[in-house]
Amino acid sequence: MKDVAIIGIGMLKWGELWEKSIRDLCVEAALNCIEDAGVDHIDSMAIGSMSSGLFTGQEHLASMIPDYLGQRYLPAVRVESACASGGLAVRNAFLEVASGMSEIALAVGVEKMTDVNGGMATYALATAADQDFEAFHGVTFPGLYAMLARAHMQHYGTTREQLAQVAVKNHANGTRNPNAQFPFAVTREQVINSVLVADPLTLLDCSPITDGAAAVLLAPVEVAHRLGRHPLTVITGIGHATDSIALVDRPDMLHLGAVAHAAQRALAMAGKTIQDVDFAEVHDCFTIAEIMVMEAMGVVPPGQGGPATLDGMTALDGSFPINPSGGLKSKGHPVGATGVAQLCEAVMQLRGTAGERQINNARTALTQNMGGSGGSSVVHIVEVQ
Ligand code: COA
Repeated sequence: MKDVAIIGIGMLKWGELWEKSIRDLCVEAALNCIEDAGVDHIDSMAIGSMSSGLFTGQEHLASMIPDYLGQRYLPAVRVESACASGGLAVRNAFLEVASGMSEIALAVGVEKMTDVNGGMATYALATAADQDFEAFHGVTFPGLYAMLARAHMQHYGTTREQLAQVAVKNHANGTRNPNAQFPFAVTREQVINSVLVADPLTLLDCSPITDGAAAVLLAPVEVAHRLGRHPLTVITGIGHATDSIALVDRPDMLHLGAVAHAAQRALAMAGKTIQDVDFAEVHDCFTIAEIMVMEAMGVVPPGQGGPATLDGMTALDGSFPINPSGGLKSKGHPVGATGVAQLCEAVMQLRGTAGERQINNARTALTQNMGGSGGSSVVHIVEVQ
Protein backbone atom coordinates (compact mmCIF):
# COMPACT_ATOMS: atom_id res chain seq x y z
CA MET A 1 0.00 0.00 0.00
CA LYS A 2 1.38 3.43 -0.94
CA ASP A 3 1.70 6.25 1.61
CA VAL A 4 -0.90 8.90 0.75
CA ALA A 5 -0.52 12.68 1.10
CA ILE A 6 -3.13 15.43 0.95
CA ILE A 7 -1.73 17.70 -1.78
CA GLY A 8 -4.62 20.15 -2.08
CA ILE A 9 -7.65 21.47 -0.20
CA GLY A 10 -10.66 23.43 -1.44
CA MET A 11 -13.15 25.25 0.77
CA LEU A 12 -15.68 28.01 0.22
CA LYS A 13 -17.88 30.17 2.42
CA TRP A 14 -20.84 28.11 3.63
CA GLY A 15 -24.38 29.27 4.39
CA GLU A 16 -27.70 29.75 2.65
CA LEU A 17 -26.37 30.07 -0.90
CA TRP A 18 -29.38 30.81 -3.10
CA GLU A 19 -27.25 31.84 -6.06
CA LYS A 20 -25.32 28.56 -6.25
CA SER A 21 -26.57 25.17 -7.47
CA ILE A 22 -25.25 21.83 -6.24
CA ARG A 23 -23.02 21.63 -9.33
CA ASP A 24 -21.68 25.16 -8.72
CA LEU A 25 -20.79 24.23 -5.14
CA CYS A 26 -18.92 21.07 -6.18
CA VAL A 27 -17.07 22.71 -9.03
CA GLU A 28 -16.02 25.72 -6.93
CA ALA A 29 -14.63 23.52 -4.14
CA ALA A 30 -12.91 21.20 -6.64
CA LEU A 31 -11.31 24.04 -8.62
CA ASN A 32 -10.09 25.70 -5.40
CA CYS A 33 -8.55 22.36 -4.47
CA ILE A 34 -6.91 21.68 -7.84
CA GLU A 35 -5.48 25.22 -7.86
CA ASP A 36 -4.16 24.76 -4.33
CA ALA A 37 -2.43 21.52 -5.37
CA GLY A 38 -1.06 22.88 -8.65
CA VAL A 39 -1.75 19.70 -10.64
CA ASP A 40 -2.75 19.46 -14.29
CA HIS A 41 -4.82 16.27 -14.13
CA ILE A 42 -6.83 14.02 -11.83
CA ASP A 43 -7.39 10.29 -12.28
CA SER A 44 -10.59 9.61 -10.32
CA MET A 45 -13.20 11.25 -8.14
CA ALA A 46 -15.29 10.24 -5.15
CA ILE A 47 -18.29 12.42 -4.25
CA GLY A 48 -19.85 12.27 -0.79
CA SER A 49 -23.47 13.39 -0.62
CA MET A 50 -26.12 12.18 1.79
CA SER A 51 -29.34 13.01 0.01
CA SER A 52 -28.97 15.17 -3.08
CA GLY A 53 -32.16 13.57 -4.41
CA LEU A 54 -34.39 14.66 -1.53
CA PHE A 55 -32.71 18.06 -1.08
CA THR A 56 -32.42 19.08 -4.76
CA GLY A 57 -34.04 16.35 -6.88
CA GLN A 58 -30.64 15.58 -8.38
CA GLU A 59 -29.11 12.10 -8.22
CA HIS A 60 -26.35 10.70 -10.43
CA LEU A 61 -23.78 13.21 -9.20
CA ALA A 62 -20.99 10.90 -10.37
CA SER A 63 -21.92 11.77 -13.94
CA MET A 64 -22.79 15.44 -13.53
CA ILE A 65 -19.89 16.70 -11.40
CA PRO A 66 -16.92 15.42 -13.43
CA ASP A 67 -18.56 16.76 -16.59
CA TYR A 68 -19.06 20.26 -15.15
CA LEU A 69 -15.50 20.16 -13.86
CA GLY A 70 -14.31 19.62 -17.44
CA GLN A 71 -13.42 15.99 -16.69
CA ARG A 72 -15.88 14.05 -18.87
CA TYR A 73 -15.06 10.28 -18.96
CA LEU A 74 -13.35 10.38 -15.53
CA PRO A 75 -14.07 7.34 -13.34
CA ALA A 76 -16.22 8.72 -10.53
CA VAL A 77 -18.36 7.30 -7.74
CA ARG A 78 -20.81 8.77 -5.30
CA VAL A 79 -20.71 7.34 -1.78
CA GLU A 80 -23.34 7.65 0.94
CA SER A 81 -23.18 7.05 4.65
CA ALA A 82 -25.58 9.75 5.88
CA CYS A 83 -23.64 12.62 7.54
CA ALA A 84 -20.43 10.54 7.25
CA SER A 85 -20.63 10.54 3.43
CA GLY A 86 -17.78 13.08 3.15
CA GLY A 87 -15.41 11.11 5.36
CA LEU A 88 -16.24 8.00 3.39
CA ALA A 89 -15.49 9.80 0.09
CA VAL A 90 -12.02 10.65 1.40
CA ARG A 91 -11.52 7.01 2.43
CA ASN A 92 -12.57 5.97 -1.07
CA ALA A 93 -10.06 8.35 -2.68
CA PHE A 94 -7.41 7.13 -0.22
CA LEU A 95 -8.00 3.51 -1.32
CA GLU A 96 -7.69 4.55 -4.99
CA VAL A 97 -4.27 6.11 -4.37
CA ALA A 98 -2.95 3.62 -1.81
CA SER A 99 -3.82 0.70 -4.10
CA GLY A 100 -2.19 2.29 -7.14
CA MET A 101 -5.47 2.40 -9.10
CA SER A 102 -5.21 6.21 -9.31
CA GLU A 103 -2.23 8.48 -8.97
CA ILE A 104 -4.25 11.60 -8.14
CA ALA A 105 -7.72 11.18 -6.63
CA LEU A 106 -10.18 13.93 -5.77
CA ALA A 107 -12.69 13.65 -2.92
CA VAL A 108 -15.55 16.15 -2.95
CA GLY A 109 -18.28 16.43 -0.33
CA VAL A 110 -21.47 18.39 -0.99
CA GLU A 111 -24.97 19.10 0.24
CA LYS A 112 -27.39 21.79 -0.87
CA MET A 113 -29.99 21.75 1.89
CA THR A 114 -31.79 25.10 1.84
CA ASP A 115 -33.76 24.69 -1.41
CA VAL A 116 -36.42 22.78 0.57
CA ASN A 117 -38.41 24.00 3.57
CA GLY A 118 -37.55 23.07 7.17
CA GLY A 119 -40.05 20.22 7.32
CA MET A 120 -38.66 18.59 4.18
CA ALA A 121 -35.07 19.06 5.40
CA THR A 122 -36.01 17.37 8.69
CA TYR A 123 -37.64 14.52 6.75
CA ALA A 124 -34.61 14.10 4.47
CA LEU A 125 -32.25 14.00 7.45
CA ALA A 126 -34.48 11.53 9.29
CA THR A 127 -34.03 9.01 6.46
CA ALA A 128 -30.65 8.32 8.13
CA ALA A 129 -32.51 6.97 11.18
CA ASP A 130 -34.25 3.59 11.41
CA GLN A 131 -37.48 4.07 9.44
CA ASP A 132 -39.43 1.23 11.09
CA PHE A 133 -38.45 1.83 14.70
CA GLU A 134 -37.57 5.54 14.88
CA ALA A 135 -38.57 7.90 12.04
CA PHE A 136 -41.99 6.29 11.36
CA HIS A 137 -42.95 7.12 14.95
CA GLY A 138 -42.09 10.78 14.47
CA VAL A 139 -38.59 10.91 15.93
CA THR A 140 -36.34 13.47 14.23
CA PHE A 141 -32.57 13.92 14.58
CA PRO A 142 -32.89 16.70 17.14
CA GLY A 143 -35.27 14.30 18.95
CA LEU A 144 -32.80 11.39 18.92
CA TYR A 145 -29.93 13.54 20.22
CA ALA A 146 -32.23 15.10 22.82
CA MET A 147 -32.91 11.59 24.14
CA LEU A 148 -29.17 10.97 24.30
CA ALA A 149 -28.65 14.27 26.10
CA ARG A 150 -31.36 13.50 28.69
CA ALA A 151 -29.94 10.00 29.29
CA HIS A 152 -26.39 11.39 29.61
CA MET A 153 -27.60 14.00 32.11
CA GLN A 154 -29.42 11.37 34.14
CA HIS A 155 -26.66 8.74 34.06
CA TYR A 156 -23.51 10.88 34.35
CA GLY A 157 -24.84 14.10 35.85
CA THR A 158 -23.95 16.14 32.75
CA THR A 159 -25.38 19.63 33.20
CA ARG A 160 -27.17 22.07 30.93
CA GLU A 161 -24.24 24.49 31.31
CA GLN A 162 -21.77 21.83 30.16
CA LEU A 163 -23.79 21.14 27.02
CA ALA A 164 -24.10 24.87 26.32
CA GLN A 165 -20.34 25.35 26.70
CA VAL A 166 -19.76 23.18 23.60
CA ALA A 167 -21.71 25.73 21.55
CA VAL A 168 -20.02 28.69 23.28
CA LYS A 169 -16.56 27.27 22.51
CA ASN A 170 -17.34 26.32 18.90
CA HIS A 171 -19.00 29.65 18.10
CA ALA A 172 -15.97 31.43 19.63
CA ASN A 173 -13.71 29.47 17.25
CA GLY A 174 -16.09 30.17 14.37
CA THR A 175 -15.68 33.94 14.82
CA ARG A 176 -12.13 33.33 13.56
CA ASN A 177 -13.20 31.36 10.48
CA PRO A 178 -14.12 33.48 7.44
CA ASN A 179 -15.86 30.46 5.84
CA ALA A 180 -18.23 29.85 8.77
CA GLN A 181 -22.00 30.11 8.26
CA PHE A 182 -22.64 31.58 11.74
CA PRO A 183 -19.41 33.35 12.76
CA PHE A 184 -20.90 35.02 15.85
CA ALA A 185 -20.12 34.48 19.52
CA VAL A 186 -22.75 33.22 21.96
CA THR A 187 -22.92 33.00 25.74
CA ARG A 188 -24.08 30.05 27.83
CA GLU A 189 -27.16 32.04 28.82
CA GLN A 190 -28.03 32.68 25.17
CA VAL A 191 -27.66 28.98 24.34
CA ILE A 192 -29.83 27.86 27.25
CA ASN A 193 -32.49 30.53 26.62
CA SER A 194 -32.71 30.22 22.83
CA VAL A 195 -35.78 28.59 21.25
CA LEU A 196 -36.40 25.04 22.44
CA VAL A 197 -36.05 22.49 19.61
CA ALA A 198 -36.22 19.14 21.43
CA ASP A 199 -35.92 19.25 25.21
CA PRO A 200 -33.21 19.88 26.47
CA LEU A 201 -31.67 20.99 23.14
CA THR A 202 -32.30 24.55 21.98
CA LEU A 203 -31.62 26.21 18.62
CA LEU A 204 -28.06 27.03 19.68
CA ASP A 205 -27.36 23.39 20.64
CA CYS A 206 -28.06 22.34 17.04
CA SER A 207 -25.96 22.44 13.89
CA PRO A 208 -27.75 24.38 11.15
CA ILE A 209 -29.15 23.57 7.72
CA THR A 210 -26.39 24.55 5.27
CA ASP A 211 -25.38 24.71 1.61
CA GLY A 212 -21.72 23.92 1.05
CA ALA A 213 -19.00 21.79 -0.46
CA ALA A 214 -15.36 20.94 0.26
CA ALA A 215 -12.64 19.03 -1.57
CA VAL A 216 -9.28 17.37 -0.94
CA LEU A 217 -6.82 15.99 -3.45
CA LEU A 218 -4.79 12.89 -2.61
CA ALA A 219 -1.60 11.53 -4.19
CA PRO A 220 1.27 9.21 -3.24
CA VAL A 221 3.87 10.82 -1.00
CA GLU A 222 6.48 10.68 -3.78
CA VAL A 223 4.20 12.74 -6.05
CA ALA A 224 3.70 15.26 -3.24
CA HIS A 225 7.49 15.54 -2.96
CA ARG A 226 7.77 16.01 -6.72
CA LEU A 227 5.21 18.83 -6.54
CA GLY A 228 7.28 20.45 -3.79
CA ARG A 229 4.49 20.26 -1.22
CA HIS A 230 5.88 21.57 2.04
CA PRO A 231 5.00 20.92 4.78
CA LEU A 232 3.90 17.47 3.69
CA THR A 233 0.54 16.39 5.19
CA VAL A 234 0.13 12.62 5.17
CA ILE A 235 -2.89 10.48 6.03
CA THR A 236 -1.27 7.95 8.36
CA GLY A 237 -4.44 6.34 9.70
CA ILE A 238 -8.01 5.64 8.58
CA GLY A 239 -10.66 3.92 10.66
CA HIS A 240 -14.17 3.17 9.51
CA ALA A 241 -16.84 1.38 11.53
CA THR A 242 -20.59 0.85 11.65
CA ASP A 243 -23.08 0.24 14.47
CA SER A 244 -26.79 -0.51 14.71
CA ILE A 245 -28.83 2.23 13.02
CA ALA A 246 -31.41 2.33 15.85
CA LEU A 247 -30.48 3.53 19.34
CA VAL A 248 -32.67 0.84 20.88
CA ASP A 249 -30.46 -1.92 19.44
CA ARG A 250 -27.30 -0.73 21.22
CA PRO A 251 -26.24 -2.42 24.46
CA ASP A 252 -25.26 0.99 25.88
CA MET A 253 -27.00 3.90 24.18
CA LEU A 254 -24.48 6.33 25.69
CA HIS A 255 -21.47 4.62 24.08
CA LEU A 256 -20.84 5.50 20.42
CA GLY A 257 -19.42 2.13 19.37
CA ALA A 258 -18.77 3.02 15.73
CA VAL A 259 -16.80 6.10 16.83
CA ALA A 260 -14.76 4.08 19.33
CA HIS A 261 -13.92 1.37 16.78
CA ALA A 262 -13.15 3.84 13.98
CA ALA A 263 -10.85 5.86 16.26
CA GLN A 264 -9.07 2.75 17.55
CA ARG A 265 -8.52 1.50 13.99
CA ALA A 266 -7.21 4.85 12.75
CA LEU A 267 -4.87 5.31 15.71
CA ALA A 268 -3.58 1.71 15.44
CA MET A 269 -2.88 2.18 11.72
CA ALA A 270 -0.95 5.38 12.51
CA GLY A 271 0.88 3.74 15.43
CA LYS A 272 -0.46 6.41 17.79
CA THR A 273 -2.56 6.75 20.90
CA ILE A 274 -5.16 9.45 21.47
CA GLN A 275 -2.61 11.24 23.70
CA ASP A 276 -0.38 11.75 20.63
CA VAL A 277 -3.08 13.80 18.89
CA ASP A 278 -2.60 17.60 19.02
CA PHE A 279 -6.16 18.60 18.09
CA ALA A 280 -9.35 17.15 16.61
CA GLU A 281 -12.20 18.16 14.33
CA VAL A 282 -15.21 16.14 15.49
CA HIS A 283 -18.87 15.73 14.57
CA ASP A 284 -20.70 18.17 16.87
CA CYS A 285 -24.05 17.95 15.06
CA PHE A 286 -25.57 18.66 18.48
CA THR A 287 -23.71 19.78 21.62
CA ILE A 288 -24.22 16.38 23.28
CA ALA A 289 -22.59 14.70 20.26
CA GLU A 290 -19.23 16.39 20.84
CA ILE A 291 -19.25 15.27 24.48
CA MET A 292 -20.12 11.68 23.58
CA VAL A 293 -17.52 11.57 20.79
CA MET A 294 -14.77 12.75 23.17
CA GLU A 295 -15.70 9.98 25.56
CA ALA A 296 -15.94 7.28 22.85
CA MET A 297 -12.49 8.15 21.50
CA GLY A 298 -10.92 8.02 24.98
CA VAL A 299 -10.04 11.73 25.15
CA VAL A 300 -11.70 11.54 28.58
CA PRO A 301 -13.38 8.68 30.48
CA PRO A 302 -17.16 8.17 30.05
CA GLY A 303 -19.10 10.91 31.80
CA GLN A 304 -16.17 13.36 31.87
CA GLY A 305 -16.81 15.09 28.53
CA GLY A 306 -19.06 17.75 30.05
CA PRO A 307 -16.79 18.75 32.97
CA ALA A 308 -13.71 18.73 30.69
CA THR A 309 -15.46 21.07 28.24
CA LEU A 310 -16.50 23.47 31.01
CA ASP A 311 -12.91 23.43 32.34
CA GLY A 312 -11.59 24.62 28.96
CA MET A 313 -9.76 21.43 27.95
CA THR A 314 -11.18 21.56 24.40
CA ALA A 315 -10.83 25.33 23.86
CA LEU A 316 -8.41 26.67 21.25
CA ASP A 317 -5.78 27.18 23.97
CA GLY A 318 -6.75 24.06 25.95
CA SER A 319 -4.76 20.83 26.30
CA PHE A 320 -6.87 19.06 23.61
CA PRO A 321 -8.44 21.62 21.25
CA ILE A 322 -11.58 20.37 19.52
CA ASN A 323 -13.18 21.96 16.46
CA PRO A 324 -10.86 24.94 15.87
CA SER A 325 -12.86 25.55 12.64
CA GLY A 326 -16.00 26.31 14.67
CA GLY A 327 -17.27 22.78 14.11
CA LEU A 328 -20.60 21.88 12.58
CA LYS A 329 -22.27 24.21 15.10
CA SER A 330 -20.75 27.46 13.82
CA LYS A 331 -19.09 26.60 10.50
CA GLY A 332 -22.28 24.86 9.31
CA HIS A 333 -23.25 21.29 8.43
CA PRO A 334 -23.94 20.62 4.74
CA VAL A 335 -24.07 16.97 5.68
CA GLY A 336 -22.18 15.34 2.78
CA ALA A 337 -19.48 18.03 2.84
CA THR A 338 -18.68 18.00 6.54
CA GLY A 339 -16.26 15.05 6.61
CA VAL A 340 -14.20 16.52 3.76
CA ALA A 341 -14.14 20.00 5.31
CA GLN A 342 -12.79 18.50 8.54
CA LEU A 343 -9.72 17.37 6.59
CA CYS A 344 -9.37 20.82 4.98
CA GLU A 345 -9.21 22.33 8.48
CA ALA A 346 -6.72 19.67 9.62
CA VAL A 347 -4.43 20.50 6.69
CA MET A 348 -4.71 24.27 7.25
CA GLN A 349 -3.73 23.81 10.88
CA LEU A 350 -0.84 21.47 10.01
CA ARG A 351 0.42 23.86 7.31
CA GLY A 352 0.24 26.73 9.83
CA THR A 353 -2.16 28.71 7.61
CA ALA A 354 -5.23 28.72 9.88
CA GLY A 355 -4.84 32.43 10.67
CA GLU A 356 -6.44 33.70 13.88
CA ARG A 357 -7.48 30.20 14.93
CA GLN A 358 -4.03 28.64 14.44
CA ILE A 359 -3.06 26.06 17.07
CA ASN A 360 0.62 26.32 18.01
CA ASN A 361 2.94 23.48 16.92
CA ALA A 362 0.13 21.31 15.54
CA ARG A 363 1.69 18.18 14.02
CA THR A 364 -0.91 15.41 14.44
CA ALA A 365 -4.60 15.94 13.67
CA LEU A 366 -7.62 13.66 14.08
CA THR A 367 -10.88 14.10 12.18
CA GLN A 368 -14.06 12.25 13.16
CA ASN A 369 -17.15 12.18 10.96
CA MET A 370 -20.39 10.44 11.99
CA GLY A 371 -23.50 9.17 10.22
CA GLY A 372 -26.93 9.55 11.83
CA SER A 373 -27.01 8.96 15.57
CA GLY A 374 -23.71 7.05 15.37
CA GLY A 375 -24.65 4.25 12.95
CA SER A 376 -21.41 4.88 11.06
CA SER A 377 -18.19 6.78 11.61
CA VAL A 378 -14.97 7.53 9.74
CA VAL A 379 -11.81 8.76 11.49
CA HIS A 380 -8.64 10.06 9.82
CA ILE A 381 -5.23 10.76 11.34
CA VAL A 382 -3.20 13.36 9.43
CA GLU A 383 0.42 14.17 10.27
CA VAL A 384 3.08 16.60 9.14
CA GLN A 385 6.08 14.75 7.75
N1 COA B 1 -27.55 27.88 15.10
C1 COA B 1 -27.65 29.21 15.18
N2 COA B 1 -28.57 29.96 14.53
C2 COA B 1 -29.44 29.29 13.75
C3 COA B 1 -29.40 27.88 13.61
C4 COA B 1 -28.41 27.18 14.32
N3 COA B 1 -28.34 25.85 14.24
N4 COA B 1 -30.37 27.50 12.76
C5 COA B 1 -31.02 28.62 12.38
N5 COA B 1 -30.45 29.70 12.97
C6 COA B 1 -30.91 31.08 12.88
C7 COA B 1 -31.25 31.53 11.46
O1 COA B 1 -30.16 32.21 10.87
C8 COA B 1 -32.41 32.47 11.68
O2 COA B 1 -31.92 33.72 12.13
P1 COA B 1 -32.62 35.09 11.69
O3 COA B 1 -34.04 35.01 12.22
O4 COA B 1 -31.78 36.14 12.36
O5 COA B 1 -32.59 35.11 10.20
C9 COA B 1 -33.15 31.86 12.85
O6 COA B 1 -32.17 31.11 13.58
C10 COA B 1 -34.28 30.94 12.46
O7 COA B 1 -33.83 30.13 11.39
P2 COA B 1 -34.74 29.01 10.72
O8 COA B 1 -34.05 28.62 9.45
O9 COA B 1 -36.16 29.46 10.65
O10 COA B 1 -34.60 27.83 11.76
P3 COA B 1 -35.47 26.52 11.80
O11 COA B 1 -36.32 26.58 13.01
O12 COA B 1 -36.11 26.24 10.49
O13 COA B 1 -34.32 25.41 11.99
C11 COA B 1 -33.21 23.89 13.43
C12 COA B 1 -33.57 25.34 13.16
C13 COA B 1 -32.32 23.80 14.65
C14 COA B 1 -34.49 23.06 13.65
C15 COA B 1 -32.48 23.31 12.17
O14 COA B 1 -31.32 24.05 11.95
C16 COA B 1 -32.12 21.85 12.34
O15 COA B 1 -32.93 20.97 12.09
N6 COA B 1 -30.87 21.57 12.73
C17 COA B 1 -30.41 20.19 12.89
C18 COA B 1 -29.87 19.67 11.59
C19 COA B 1 -29.60 18.20 11.67
O16 COA B 1 -30.32 17.41 12.26
N7 COA B 1 -28.50 17.76 11.02
C20 COA B 1 -28.11 16.38 10.99
C21 COA B 1 -27.42 16.03 12.23
S1 COA B 1 -27.18 14.32 12.43
